[in-house]
Amino acid sequence: MNSMTDLLRRCLDEGSLISLVLGSKRKKSQPLNKVTVRPVSLREGMMYQAEYSYEKKALHENLDPDELCRLFEEMMRLYFKQANLFTTQADYQILASHPDRPRIQKKSPTKKMPSLSHNKAKHYLIPDGIPCPFLVRLGVMNQQGQVLKKHYGKFRQINRFLEITADVLDHLPGDRTLKIVDFGCGKAYLTFALYHFLKIQLGRDIQITGLDLKEDVVNFCNQVAMELGYESLHFEVGDIAMYEGTSADMVVTLHACDTATDFALLHAHSWQASVILSVPCCQHELFPQLQNELHAPLLSQGILRERFSAILTDTFRMLKLESWGYDVSMIEFTSLEHTAKNIMIRAVYSGRPNPQKEEQCRRLADYWHADPAILRERVT
Ligand SMILES: C[S@@+](CC[C@H](N)C(=O)[O-])C[C@H]1O[C@@H](n2cnc3c(N)ncnc32)[C@H](O)[C@@H]1O
Repeated sequence: MNSMTDLLRRCLDEGSLISLVLGSKRKKSQPLNKVTVRPVSLREGMMYQAEYSYEKKALHENLDPDELCRLFEEMMRLYFKQANLFTTQADYQILASHPDRPRIQKKSPTKKMPSLSHNKAKHYLIPDGIPCPFLVRLGVMNQQGQVLKKHYGKFRQINRFLEITADVLDHLPGDRTLKIVDFGCGKAYLTFALYHFLKIQLGRDIQITGLDLKEDVVNFCNQVAMELGYESLHFEVGDIAMYEGTSADMVVTLHACDTATDFALLHAHSWQASVILSVPCCQHELFPQLQNELHAPLLSQGILRERFSAILTDTFRMLKLESWGYDVSMIEFTSLEHTAKNIMIRAVYSGRPNPQKEEQCRRLADYWHADPAILRERVT
C-alpha cells in the first residue's frame, strides 16, 4: 500500500471521510472522466458510494472500505493523476503524475460531514447531494446537487416511482428497444426520471414518449430533452383518448385526470403492454351516477360520496385489467401526508384473461348504477 492509500485508509478508519474526487485523466481518450466517492449509511452499515462519470452517463457502486482502497489504488495507477480528499480534519490534494511518488498537500478542512438524514437520502435511486442533470435543469436540485426544500415531495415521489419501476423490470422485454409511453406527462419530471434511470443509469435501450394536451409544456419538455442530449425521449401534443401510437411495452400515468386514466389503460390493453404503472386522480365520473338504496347513507354526504366514487372507479379499473389478463396490485404510492392521490395501480401482463372478473365487474356496475369509461372498452 502506498502513502496515498495509507492516507485514505486512515480517514476511513477514523470515519472522517466526507468525499473523495478522482480527476485529471492520464489519457485524454479514456472514457471515464471522474470518480466521486461519498459515505452512505445503508442497512448493512456504512458503505462508500462511488459514482463513475462518463460523457453521457453516471454509474454507481457501493463499496466497503477494503474495496474502496483497492479501487483507489488501481484508479490512481491507471486512470487519474489527481485526487482530492475532503475530511472533517483536513482537505488533501494528491498529485500523482508518478503513482509511486505522489505529492500530498494538506489544507484546513472546507467541508462539513452531512447530517445523518442527508446520508439517509442516499438510499434513493437518484440520490440527494449528487447533481443529476435533468433535476438541475427542472429546478428540483441546485447546481451542487442539493434538492430544494420546496421540491422535496416531488423528489421523493420520483424516487418512489423509480423503485417501483425497478421492481417490474424483469417483466419487461430485455432483448429489444423498450417502448414506454407516459400519458398526461405534464412537466415530465417522471418521464425524464424514467429516461435517466433506464437509459443512463441502467444502459437499457429505450424509447420514451410523453403525451400531454398542453402545447407550451410539450415544447418546453422537447427543448429540455434536446439540451440534455436525451435522444430517444420525445414529447407530443395530444389527447390520450385520440392517441394513435400503435404499441408500448410499458404505460405510465401519474395523476392523469379523471377518465384520461381509463383511456390510457385501454391503450395499454390494446397493445398488451407488459407493465402498467398508473396513479389515478380526480375520479369524478361516477360521482353523479351512483345510486343504491341500501347504501344511500354512504352516498348522502358529498365527501363520502366523492371518496367512495374514487375507490369504486379504481376497483372497476382493477377488475377490468384482471379480466384482460393482468396481475394487479393496488399499492400505496407515496405517503398520505403528501397527497391523498396515492393509490397506484401496478399491473403486469400475464396473458391469462379472466372472464369471471369481467362478470364481477358488470355485476358491480349494475349494483351501483354505474357506467364507468373503462367498461365501455374502446378508445374514442
Ligand atoms: C396533474 S397533471 C400531472 C402531470 C405529471 N404526470 C405529473 O405527475 O407531474 C395532469 C396532466 O395530464 C394532462 N392531461 C389531462 N387530460 C389529458 C388528456 N386527455 N390527454 C392528454 N393529457 C391530459 C394535463 O394537461 C396535465 O398536464
